Amino acid sequence: MQRLGKGELMERTFVMIKPDGVRKQLTGECLRRYEAKGLKIVDLRMDNLSADIARQHYGEHVDKPFFDDLVKHVTSGPVVLMVLEGVGAVAAARKLNGATNPLEADPGSLRGAFALEITENIVHGSDSVDSAKREIGIFFPKQ
Ligand code: RTP
Ligand code: MG
Repeated sequence: MQRLGKGELMERTFVMIKPDGVRKQLTGECLRRYEAKGLKIVDLRMDNLSADIARQHYGEHVDKPFFDDLVKHVTSGPVVLMVLEGVGAVAAARKLNGATNPLEADPGSLRGAFALEITENIVHGSDSVDSAKREIGIFFPKQ
């Protein structure tokens, strides 16, 4: 994190457009919303996740009943991985993504507008600055 002029905190967050988001051709829509909000794309690539990397990324959920379905989904096709930067970037990206369950997400959010099911909920966003550092370390080690 880096101090800005007005004492605001610059943050980085990790965002992934999940395979359903890519299949629905929402990559451009997601990027447009992040950029329109003022978040800067500092790194970006399309990739296919191995099961090992997916399990590592979602390690906090290893004991949850949905873990296997989640890993299966995020390895089911290409994903778009990115590092976003801005003041309050972690919270900003999660607000744009919306609540985890698309049925509960604000209709103005990506999940609220474009998804129905909780496993296939378009996007992932880090839940804290520490999580962002860990996740950026997995996917963008040079950052
Ligand atoms: P994400 O990590 O993907 O940004 O989502 P999140 O913080 O809003 O939600 P989290 O609790 O971290 O869950 C990770 C992903 O697991 C799937 N999930 N399925 N079936 C279920 O009850 C359930 N709960 C969570 C979702 O795809 C969620 O995004
Ligand atoms: Mg999460």
